[in-house]
Amino acid sequence: MISGDLLYELPSIVERLDLTQLFQKAQPLEVELGCGDASFIAEYAKQHPEKNFIGVERLLGRIRKLDKKGRRLALANLRGVRIENAYFLEWLLPAHSAGAIHVYFPDPWPKLKHRRHRMINEGFPALAHAALVRGGRVFLRTDHEEYFEQMQTVFAASRQFKPAETPTELAEVLTDFERDFLAEGIQTRRAAYEAV
Ligand SMILES: C[S@@+](CC[C@H](N)C(=O)[O-])C[C@H]1O[C@@H](n2cnc3c(N)ncnc32)[C@H](O)[C@@H]1O
Repeated sequence: MISGDLLYELPSIVERLDLTQLFQKAQPLEVELGCGDASFIAEYAKQHPEKNFIGVERLLGRIRKLDKKGRRLALANLRGVRIENAYFLEWLLPAHSAGAIHVYFPDPWPKLKHRRHRMINEGFPALAHAALVRGGRVFLRTDHEEYFEQMQTVFAASRQFKPAETPTELAEVLTDFERDFLAEGIQTRRAAYEAV
């Protein structure tokens, strides 16, 4: 049981979301997978009242921060869902419903034997494509050079995406982890791909 005005409690984990139950207004949807403390998505939702946003996060303490930040900003266009990212993408998000999927600083699982846990793997582009509207985009950021190469490799291998740019106004909205990396002088990388 989780409580919080902006945290959406799933009525079912075997039926896709009814977006009309989450948002007062039907507007273009964007999703952040692994939103952490919601630094990015709360700020970006504030800047874009003409869109709806869902932050997905598995840790209760972090998704509660989405609720807190979103309520402080009185956001009617932000909701949080506490669940596992890949499950949300594959089984809960309605088909072709999102204009953008943001994945920022996903856990890099640096040990070779743990790499199978990485979210951006060979199967990710197909799942993302099924969730995106035509022309929808995936935005990626990471500090991990080798994971960045994996991200580029899996999208290069997909015929469902072409490379795209990250708009400056989007790149300027930093995540919590990104702020820390930048403060420590750690280089970060970003990429974007558009569904064709
Ligand atoms: C390294 S943090 C980055 C958080 C945020 N995106 C940022 O840049 O500040 C990764 C986040 O993804 C969440 N996470 C990792 N694996 C997940 C999964 N399989 N499903 C949902 N959330 C996940 C973690 O709990 C954590 O909050």
